[in-house]
Amino acid sequence: MLILGIETSCDDTSIAVLRIEGAKPEVLSNIVSSQIQIHNTYGGVVPLLAAREHEKNLPLVLQEALQVASCKVADVDLVAVTSGPGLIMSLVKGVNFAKELAQKNNKPIIGVNHMAGHVYSNWLSTTHYPLFPALCLIVSGGHTELVLMHNHGKYELIGRTVDDASGEAFDKIARIIGLEYPGGPAISREAEKFTGEKTITLPRPMMHSKDQDFSFSGLKTAVLYLVRDIKSRLNLDLSQKIRAEIAHEAQDAIVDVLISKTKKAIEIHQPKSVLLAGGVSANKLLREKIKTLHDNVFIPPMQYTTDNAAMIAMAAYYNQDTKDFDADANWEIV
Ligand code: KG4
Ligand code: ZN
Repeated sequence: MLILGIETSCDDTSIAVLRIEGAKPEVLSNIVSSQIQIHNTYGGVVPLLAAREHEKNLPLVLQEALQVASCKVADVDLVAVTSGPGLIMSLVKGVNFAKELAQKNNKPIIGVNHMAGHVYSNWLSTTHYPLFPALCLIVSGGHTELVLMHNHGKYELIGRTVDDASGEAFDKIARIIGLEYPGGPAISREAEKFTGEKTITLPRPMMHSKDQDFSFSGLKTAVLYLVRDIKSRLNLDLSQKIRAEIAHEAQDAIVDVLISKTKKAIEIHQPKSVLLAGGVSANKLLREKIKTLHDNVFIPPMQYTTDNAAMIAMAAYYNQDTKDFDADANWEIV
C-alpha cells in the first residue's frame, strides 16, 4: 500500500510517500522544507510566521514528494497527517490541507500523534523490528518522556519532564551562550571544539531522584548565572574556550540525566527493546551512550530523527483503525 504522510506541527513542512509491501516499508520520498533560516533571526520559532510558511510551502512540497516518488495522489491508499501536539496554527494548516486533498481525491485520512510518529521512526529502516514491551526515550523540543510501549498504539507513561524538555534546554542554553537556533546541533558542534581538562561543573537535576521524571530548567538557570558571573563580576567576555567548555559540560549534563533515568527504567521494567526517538536523538553522544544500556537498542537513522513526514506515514500504517482526529489520536495511555 502507499501512504502519503503530512507533517506541519512546528517549523518543518514535510510530505512523504511510503510504500509498504508485506510490512516492509520503503520511503519513496520524504521532502522536508525547513524554516530554520527564517526563525533563526528571532532565536526561536515564531508561530505566526511558521503557519504562513506552511501554507506557502505545502503545495510545493506535495508536488516534489509526488515527483520524487513517481506517483500521483490517485495512487495513494491512505493520507496521514499530524493532528497534535504542536503549534496549533501550524497543525491547522497541515490538517486542513490533508483533509481537502483526501476529500478531493476520495481517499481515507487519519490523524497521527506527533510523538507516536517519532517513536515509529524506528520502524522505517530496519531489518528487524522492536519487541514489546519497548521502553521509549522520547526527547524533542517540546517533550521529554519515558514511555513503555506495550503494543502498537498502547503507551504507558513512566516519566516525564516536570519543566523544560531536553531539546528546549539545548535551545535555551545555546541562546544564553550566544549560539544559533536550533541549539542542539549548535551546542554539539561547539562542544567538539573543547579540549583539555574541564573546570566547570553544571548540575544534573533530579538525576538521583527516586521517580523517573526529569527536570532541565535548573540547568538552564545555572548556565545563565554562570555566564552573568563571567561577564559582570569577572568583567570578561565569553571567550571561545569558555563557550566551548560550557557547551561541552551542558551536553554532558543533559545526556547524563537522560541515560541515568533510562538505565533505571530498564532495571525496573525489564523491556525487550529500548527505543530512542525525537529531535534530540540526533545527538551523537546520546546515540553512543544509549547503545550500551541494552542488547536490543533502536536508534532512528539520522534523516528521521527531527520532524519528518515519513515517520507520520509509518505510525499511520500500524494504527489504521484510529478514529480520533485530535492530539491524542493513536496515543492511548494504558
Ligand atoms: O523532534 P523535533 O525535530 O521537533 C519537536 O518535535 O520539538 O526536535 C527539535 C529539537 C530541538 O530542540 C533541537 O535543538 C533538538 O531537537 N536537536 C538536537 C540535535 N538536533 C536537534 N539536540 C541535541 N543534539 C542534536 N544534534
Ligand atoms: Zn518532533
